[in-house]
Amino acid sequence: MSNYLIRVEHLRKAYGDVVPLKDVSVDINCGDVISIIGPSGTGKSTFIRMLNQMEKVTSGKIFFRDEDITAPDYRLDLLRQKVGMIFQSFNLFPQMTVIENIIAAPMALKGMDKQTAYDKAKALLKRVGLYEKIFAYPDELSGGQQQRIAIVRALIMEPDVLLFDEPTSALDPTMVGEVEAVIKNIAKSGVTMLIVTHSMEFAEKISTRIFYMDEGGIYEEGKPAQIFYNPKREKTRQFIKRLKVLELEINSPHFDFIAYANHIDIFGVKNELAKKLINRLTLMFEEICLTILLPRLGDTVKIKVTIEYSEHDNSAEMFIDYNGEEFNIEDCDDDVALRLIHKNTSQLEYRAEDEGGFLNHLKFTVS
Ligand SMILES: Nc1ncnc2c1ncn2[C@@H]1O[C@H](COP(=O)(O)OP(=O)(O)O)[C@@H](O)[C@H]1O
Ligand SMILES: [Mg+2]
Repeated sequence: MSNYLIRVEHLRKAYGDVVPLKDVSVDINCGDVISIIGPSGTGKSTFIRMLNQMEKVTSGKIFFRDEDITAPDYRLDLLRQKVGMIFQSFNLFPQMTVIENIIAAPMALKGMDKQTAYDKAKALLKRVGLYEKIFAYPDELSGGQQQRIAIVRALIMEPDVLLFDEPTSALDPTMVGEVEAVIKNIAKSGVTMLIVTHSMEFAEKISTRIFYMDEGGIYEEGKPAQIFYNPKREKTRQFIKRLKVLELEINSPHFDFIAYANHIDIFGVKNELAKKLINRLTLMFEEICLTILLPRLGDTVKIKVTIEYSEHDNSAEMFIDYNGEEFNIEDCDDDVALRLIHKNTSQLEYRAEDEGGFLNHLKFTVS
């Protein structure tokens, strides 16, 4: 018997020319609580929908225990009993009471007798704090309560794995907490779960593993501490820090300075940077690139300016990579420019290293 619960092998999914998943291979083990994060459109929903075959693979295989669930003769009705799914919208039957909503599937699909189904439903309703709503109709419940019922409806089937696709994103913010608390409680009970979520705090608290999805697959995976505090790859870092990035390249001494300054301005306004911060970034761009570097580098000039703004800390990091001989701007003899630079930046670091096509690398913080 293998260790994995679900094994995904070279999974590919294409919708015409759109290929959200290119080649995904991963094992999901019993007891894993996996949060799936990443920018929208990166195939997070597509991925979990393929785990219960609501979406067919274009190529590749998915094994549940040792059975290939992508095989044409695989019985999907059996799979659906083992894999519970909770969506953004709760999808309760409006004409049925809470208890009827919960016991319908186990009686019809699992042949559970009514009394057993009732007893189980009651116990689960108590667990999610909604026992008193047993005979209510869905429209008498708040969104958060309906979602908790939807979770009970999945749990009563005793699934081997629960899939959540943004379970709280359709909710009023005041109700997010109650649903997250229920999910956290289930996670602790050892059920294997995959949860697509936008809430980093929630993901960090409940997960044993995080999948960051981007570029057609699981771009980086790791334990919460690694992904949230020490991501190894660039895009993960940008996503986690909610970085807004602007890149500018100067390849000619006659570059259009006004247009470049305008790019910084637009970037700043679009991302709601303080006016003061925008001015400082523009000033640094001008002092370092125009005043110090351009006269030295002349016709051979090659400069890359990267501005990363973090909403988290309200500050920006500026990276300036440039060609030419080894040269730290702090060694220039323009005292006025240097004084301005020091006044408006902190943590100025210089290093000389052949990297990314540039020898000189400057990094500093503007706030
Ligand atoms: N049924 C579909 N038909 C065509 N394109 C789709 C379909 N479902 C998803 N896509 C496309 O696949 C990509 C990934 O979608 P999705 O899995 O919903 O991303 P996410 O959940 O990460 O936001 C998107 O570009 C989306 O437009
Ligand atoms: Mg989605």
